[in-house]
Amino acid sequence: MKILVLNGPNLNLLGVREPAIYGSRSYSDLVSFVRGVAANLGVEVDVRQSNHEGELVTWIQQSRGEFDAIVLNAAAYTHTSVAILDALKAVGARTVEVHLSDPMTREGFRHVSFVSMAAEATFKGRGFDSYADAIRYLAGKGNN
Ligand code: DQA
Repeated sequence: MKILVLNGPNLNLLGVREPAIYGSRSYSDLVSFVRGVAANLGVEVDVRQSNHEGELVTWIQQSRGEFDAIVLNAAAYTHTSVAILDALKAVGARTVEVHLSDPMTREGFRHVSFVSMAAEATFKGRGFDSYADAIRYLAGKGNN
């Protein structure tokens, strides 16, 4: 199984950015963590991050025929991006939504998720482990 792991804006600043919410580990720690989880499950991952909505849209479009599923932390675009939702629907990709924090327990503007409208499952509020849950779920080895 080949999974595209996409991370949206400001996730490159993990460790620096609001550590009380997102933790003290860096983005490169997250990439290593995700690669480690995937390797243990025998799953192939390509982990990418962009601050640009259009780049995320392009990567989703290009995933067609290349990947079996997308694990997507669209970050703030989760709550705003019809373009990302449309791209997910256009390619019909199996999508699992992830968040480090739990947006539903935060400000009201984070309670809407366009990504959820195309995602078959959401894992949130568990820090890096939200990504592990998503990859295990896709590999069919989750408890979820
Ligand atoms: C986030 C939650 C979003 O509301 C926020 O805009 C982010 C990160 C998370 O992983 O908890 O940038 O997706």
